[in-house]
Amino acid sequence: MMEQIKEIRSRILKVLKEYDSITIGTLGSHSALNILKGAKDEGLKTICLCRDKERIIYESFGVADRIIQLDDFSDLLNPDIQRQLVDENVVLIPHGSFNAYIGRLDNLVIPVFGNRILMEWEVDRERQRKWLFDAGLKLPETFEKPEDIDRLVIVKYPGAKGGKGYFLCSSPEEFYEKAERMVHAGLIGEDEIEDAYIQEYIVGANIYFSFFYSPVFERVELIAVDRRYESSVDGISRIPADVQLKGEIHPTYTVIGNFPVVLRESLLSQALQAAKSVVEVSKEIAEPGMVGPFCLESVFTEEGEMVVFEISARIVAGTNVGIPSSPYSYILFGENMYMGRRIARELKLARERNMLEELIY
Ligand SMILES: Nc1ncnc2c1ncn2[C@@H]1O[C@H](COP(=O)(O)OP(=O)(O)OP(=O)(O)O)[C@@H](O)[C@H]1O
Ligand SMILES: [Mg+2]
Repeated sequence: MMEQIKEIRSRILKVLKEYDSITIGTLGSHSALNILKGAKDEGLKTICLCRDKERIIYESFGVADRIIQLDDFSDLLNPDIQRQLVDENVVLIPHGSFNAYIGRLDNLVIPVFGNRILMEWEVDRERQRKWLFDAGLKLPETFEKPEDIDRLVIVKYPGAKGGKGYFLCSSPEEFYEKAERMVHAGLIGEDEIEDAYIQEYIVGANIYFSFFYSPVFERVELIAVDRRYESSVDGISRIPADVQLKGEIHPTYTVIGNFPVVLRESLLSQALQAAKSVVEVSKEIAEPGMVGPFCLESVFTEEGEMVVFEISARIVAGTNVGIPSSPYSYILFGENMYMGRRIARELKLARERNMLEELIY
């Protein structure tokens, strides 16, 4: 396993050595406008790989020097497409829409920014939990089996991805009732009922922290903070309780957009400490540890305690609220700075210092 990882990396580094410039490339979706604009702001060339249905987005903002149209994002793995990208000195910036291909990224010869092993950890709930737990963070309780449910929980089915397929309940009876309803709705199979990931539901304020670990400066930077605007859960408070009950409205958590957040200053210490610990543990998980963007997804309780329920080991779409700057990135840099630009800046600095290899694992 380790041997294979090393071999893949040395193959990619060989490609990187041939580059006499850097072009930033990414798949057209998620946070591509952020990534491409950031590259332009740093004077780098850009390529966007998108499907017909997204083309209008990337043509409308003028951030892609070149658009390569794909029938499907998985065409990125085609040798012919890869050759074109390598010829253009492309470094790929991964985002949420790459997740479906994580694990198959080994078939890529194109350099990908960041640590791909950590990205693989991210798509596995159990590994994620271990990572956060080892970092000493406060996590929601998890329940092995439905019979153990003794408080309000959120039930997540694999593959449901935040949207339909999550539900809240507070007892084993309610669990089975609602799981059956999901079977009837065709969202899960009868045999999948027990595959539920059952997690204590934390009541509070949702806060998403986007950090950047810089190998060049050897430091963790807070780049932006956001909260999500989720359908339908954020719409339910607009409906009086009696109408909610009659309508049998069940919340779903499909992300529709994001809002910027500025935190009560005293609460920042928990977040900054958590980020440092997560970076420390990442070094044990996968040498050399975190490179570039990551996000800690949390709920702050009414006691002001930060409970972390997820980590993303790459840029998240919530950083889009930080263009051209968030209060935090402005305080740190004294100029417009946002995640897409921060990534491009790191690549540029690393290139000048002859340490580009340290950004690609
Ligand atoms: N333990 C929890 N306590 C309170 N709210 C939670 C908890 N877990 C998840 N949520 C809410 O549900 C939403 C989706 O959960 P989660 O992020 O785990 O799903 P996901 O499968 O990663 O989907 P996505 O890709 O949309 O993030 C969160 O943004 C948050 O609003
Ligand atoms: Mg999530």
